Amino acid sequence: MATKNTSTIIVTGGAGYIGSHTIIELLQQTDYEVLSIDNFSNSTPATFDRIESITGKQIKNLNVDLCNYEALEHALEKVKNPMGIIHFAAFKSVGDSVNMPLTYYHNNLESLINLLKISEKYAIKNFIFSSSCSVYGNVESLPVTEDTPFAKAESPYAHTKQIGEDILINYVKSNPTFKTVLLRYFNPVGAHNSGLNGELSKDKPNNLVPFITQSAAGILPPLTVFGDDYDTRDGSCIRDYIHVSDIADAHVKAMEYIVNNKQKNNTSIFNLGTGNGVTVFEVIKAFEKVTEQTLNYKVGARRPGDVIKIYANNNLAKQELQWEPKNGLDEMMLSAWKWQVNISPKK
Ligand code: UD1
Repeated sequence: MATKNTSTIIVTGGAGYIGSHTIIELLQQTDYEVLSIDNFSNSTPATFDRIESITGKQIKNLNVDLCNYEALEHALEKVKNPMGIIHFAAFKSVGDSVNMPLTYYHNNLESLINLLKISEKYAIKNFIFSSSCSVYGNVESLPVTEDTPFAKAESPYAHTKQIGEDILINYVKSNPTFKTVLLRYFNPVGAHNSGLNGELSKDKPNNLVPFITQSAAGILPPLTVFGDDYDTRDGSCIRDYIHVSDIADAHVKAMEYIVNNKQKNNTSIFNLGTGNGVTVFEVIKAFEKVTEQTLNYKVGARRPGDVIKIYANNNLAKQELQWEPKNGLDEMMLSAWKWQVNISPKK
C-alpha cells in the first residue's frame, strides 16, 4: 500500500468503464492524487458523480483529445508531481474497427505515441497499458500464457493492441529508466458491487453482458447467441469473463509493482483473466439464476471475427502482483444487473 504522498497518477479514459472502476480502487486503496483525461467520446461526465457517490471524493478531469499533442502538453503543465500514467482511453469495438480501420489506427496509436512524448517531457517513468487478449488471435493451445506467440490479429482493433505493445517494448529499450506493464484483459464484465457504477456505452452495446442486461430490462430486443455449432461443450463460444473491479484492482497492484521497483524487467506483461473458460449459454444460465429473470434469446449465425475459445493462464499475475480475482460469474452477473436496474428500473 502506498505511503502518504502527493504524487499524481494520470488515468486516461477515466470516465470509461474500466478507467472509472480503476479510479475507484485507486481512491480507496491508495492516497495518490488522481487526474483523469477524458474527452467523453464514449462516456459522460456523470461518471465522476458516480465515482464520488462511491468514494466520497471528487476527481478532476481534463477534457482533452489525446491525439492533440499541443493541447495535452498545455493541459498537463501544472500537474503536481506526475508519477504514472494508466492508459485506458482507446476505441474498442472490434466490429467498428473492421469498418473504420484508419480511425482505429489513428486514434489508438497516435494517442499512445503522444502520451509517451508527454512522459518524456514531464519525466513520468511509470506507464500501464490496456492491452487485450485479442492480441493472441486464434491460438492453438489453451490456456494462453504471456509467452503464447501472437497469431494474426483478427481485427484492426486487435492489431492496434499488438502494435501498441510493440511501441512500448521498443520505447523501453531506448529509455531504460522507463517502466511499463502491459495488461492483457480477457472479458471484463459486471459492475461495482454497489450497483452505482458500471458499463454504459453511448451506442447500442456490442458486448455480451450489457446486451443481456439491456435486453432483460426491455431496452433491447432478445439476445442473439452468435452460433451454437462451434466445437465446444455446448456449441457456443468460450471466453474468460472477469469482474471489472478485479481488473481495476490489478491496475493498483501493477502501479505499486513498478513504482516500488519489483519488476524483473522494465517491461512486464500479465494476463488478466480468471482462468475459467465459460460458454455463452453458461453466461445466460448464470444471469437467469442469480437475477431470477428469464432472458429471451435466439440462436443466430456466427459473428465474423469471433475466436472460438480463449481463456487465460493467470499464474504470472497472481505470483508477481500478489493479485487474486475475488468475484465469480455469479457476482459478475448480479452486479451487472444491479447496475442496469439502477440506471433503468424495469418497467
Ligand atoms: C472482444 C475481445 C476483447 C476486447 C473486446 C472489446 C477477443 C477474444 N476478445 O471480446 O479482447 O477487449 O472485444 O469489445 O477477441 N455474443 C453473443 N451475442 C451478442 C454479443 C456477444 O452471442 O449479442 C457472444 C460472442 O460471440 C462471444 C461472447 O458473446 O462469444 C463475448 O462477446 P463480446 O462480449 O462481444 O466480447 P469478445 O468479442 O469476446
